[in-house]
Amino acid sequence: MSTQETHSGLKAREAAIRILMAVTLKNRPFDIALDDITKEAGLGARDRAFVMNLVMLTLRRLGGLKALLASLLERGLPRNATWTEAALVTGLAQILLMRTADHAAVNETVTLVKNLPGKERGFAGLVNAVLRRAAREQEKLQAILNDTPERDLPNWIAESWTTAYGQDGMRKIAASLQSNPALDISLNPGENIQEWAEKLDARVMPNGTLRRTLTDVTQLPGYEDGIWWVQDLAASLPVMLLGDVAGKHILDMCAAPGGKTMQLASQGATVTAIDRNKNRLKRLVANLERTKLKATVVTADAAKCAPETPADAILLDAPCSATGTLRRNPDVIWTKAPEDVAKLTALQARILDHAFGLLPAGGTLVYCVCSLEPSEGREQIDAFLTRHSDASRSPVEAAEIGGISEVITADGDLLCLPSLLAEEGGMDGFFAARLKKIK
Ligand SMILES: C[S@@+](CC[C@H](N)C(=O)[O-])C[C@H]1O[C@@H](n2cnc3c(N)ncnc32)[C@H](O)[C@@H]1O
Repeated sequence: MSTQETHSGLKAREAAIRILMAVTLKNRPFDIALDDITKEAGLGARDRAFVMNLVMLTLRRLGGLKALLASLLERGLPRNATWTEAALVTGLAQILLMRTADHAAVNETVTLVKNLPGKERGFAGLVNAVLRRAAREQEKLQAILNDTPERDLPNWIAESWTTAYGQDGMRKIAASLQSNPALDISLNPGENIQEWAEKLDARVMPNGTLRRTLTDVTQLPGYEDGIWWVQDLAASLPVMLLGDVAGKHILDMCAAPGGKTMQLASQGATVTAIDRNKNRLKRLVANLERTKLKATVVTADAAKCAPETPADAILLDAPCSATGTLRRNPDVIWTKAPEDVAKLTALQARILDHAFGLLPAGGTLVYCVCSLEPSEGREQIDAFLTRHSDASRSPVEAAEIGGISEVITADGDLLCLPSLLAEEGGMDGFFAARLKKIK
């Protein structure tokens, strides 16, 4: 490795440690911490990509890495040795989960700790011993990490998912974190899907999603021309529950950044896209501009808004804990606590009650969340139905979603688990229910 590379390797590793601490200790969203800290460090594209991969992987396997670290330390670390702990887990991630050269991972992590201001520099020898041992016992430690996927999760999530999906179900979801998610693409329905599958080197999934390996989307054919947009397979299913939307006025409540708005508009719906977050709405507008699709965009609180034109149907993609997207956003489970889920559940109920009030008799409302917590999904709908005698569940048929029957529950709701379609790359966790207003 040249001096130049060694230097940028040090800076990159330091940035990774700082991002990990920003997310886990200060609850900063990963993408914002990544942007700020890599810019501050003046990292180029290659180093930034390394940092992004390293922190994503460390966050996805954080519970397991910490448990492994505890087993490698005879006496543990003092509580305030936060820098050292972050350096050790990112070091272990490089040695056990990435193809980084072991000597670079060990030497540079040790150098970083040696150069720390204050007392933590005294842990450099310990860091050296632990990481060297990890490099020597690589195979054994990798097997421990890979055989206990449930340890990757924070305790409260593991408990919640065991209650909801059983021990085996929880382990399968945890295991899905060990592989990279696919890149899923929704194609404008006016385009020829087979042609685009070839151009994008993608497979056509049963619901019409194009699936390929992750890459920089801006470099793919059709991106600039707005022929398609990125949308996980599971995230594209709720709109399908509204059936033929051509010519109908659909209220897309909580719409930003607009994946479902584009899906609705591309199918010929007249869409009013509502969100209260102006910055996220800017991204929705940019997405509409790129894909040359149209929607009326409204900044408003979905729990209070009063749209000018009555809706034929409503899509409510409610704010949620986003625990279903943990493969793509592994920070979410480390920056949230059960209290956050409870607050979100109350907000969802308020928005859902208001949205249902805007629906005409006989109309359909699809409620969805990218969460795996039953309180935000099935239990939310059960509670709603006890509050509203003029509402009923309208069970989903497999034929409406490309025959993907494994995501339909006994009640007829959708429950996408990241462990489903595992052979084909899995999917995000999502819940959706279709409600009708009784005439
Ligand atoms: C799950 S995201 C929506 C994703 C979007 N439907 C898509 O497919 O790209 C939830 C959205 O709800 C918005 N939100 C949260 N509380 C809201 C409220 N009270 N009124 C309107 N929007 C809200 C957030 O700003 C966020 O954009």
